[in-house]
Amino acid sequence: MVRFATPRVSGVTRGAGGTDGVEAWRSGDSHGGLPQTELHGIVTATAPRRTGAVTPGRGDGGPAPRRAAIAVRTLRQDRWWLQPLLTVLALVAFIIYSTFRAFQNAYYFAEPYISPFFSPCITTACEGDTFPKLFTGPSWISPALYILVFPLGFRLTCYYYRKAYYRSFWLSPPACAVAEPHNRYTGETRFPLIFQNVHRYFFYAGLVFNVILTYDAVVSFRDETGAWGHMGLGTLVLLANAGLLWLYSLSCHSCRHIVGGRLNHFSRHPLRYRFWTVVSRLNANHMKFAWASLFSVAFADFYVFMVATDTISDLRFF
Ligand code: FES
Repeated sequence: MVRFATPRVSGVTRGAGGTDGVEAWRSGDSHGGLPQTELHGIVTATAPRRTGAVTPGRGDGGPAPRRAAIAVRTLRQDRWWLQPLLTVLALVAFIIYSTFRAFQNAYYFAEPYISPFFSPCITTACEGDTFPKLFTGPSWISPALYILVFPLGFRLTCYYYRKAYYRSFWLSPPACAVAEPHNRYTGETRFPLIFQNVHRYFFYAGLVFNVILTYDAVVSFRDETGAWGHMGLGTLVLLANAGLLWLYSLSCHSCRHIVGGRLNHFSRHPLRYRFWTVVSRLNANHMKFAWASLFSVAFADFYVFMVATDTISDLRFF
């Protein structure tokens, strides 16, 4: 539950309706039944803040009520900082690990498994034979770097991750009802954030990657000699990773718009309506799929690394 402290007001300006913004705010707080703690002297006037959302008018053409000028950053008393902190820690850990592995350029293939960080492996320098070798790249460039832009771009422009890293890294804002430190808000209408709008195209590229990683999971039903009809723990790991990546992609907001957007009558498009219904259900869990697939990609790579370095042996089921 979000808990707020109640400010003490030293000066108010009454609106046309006889209720000023602070009183309305206070009355809303007390009606919520939340515990109240007096913070003396933190409010000095009702002058509107220079930044943040504009208080809406009353809808009758009259002047909008003015906002309380609250000197402290927030009145929340719960641990609102915990979620952005955990987000930073998780994303930084992933970035460090994936960067190290991409530049390590080794231990990413252990027959019949290939790490998702390196798939599709498209240069002649690649280990294994899971994908056609399309060109000879300089051996000092890791094969992961040729393909990284697509999964990276897909995640960077994802609507959920945008919210997550805007809040946790840029504190814009760090949480609901917590003021952000920036003076201006320009949204995603200007360079460089306007490029977030290419998310739909990264979605298409992500689908291609999902097909390839699903193929990798299928070919992992082989043993070390290449014979089919076998399965190991690594097969399960790659299957789970491919499944979570599909869930992440199919729950994407762009996917939902592609299957059900721009329609005036669902009744005339029953098939698209059915797809839209399924995607909408998945979309409600997009955040969970975003995190689960991020961890599964890292874990799949780590599993292949452990097998490739002979730190562990793959558990073979049959
Ligand atoms: Fe997250 Fe598209 S909105 S992947």
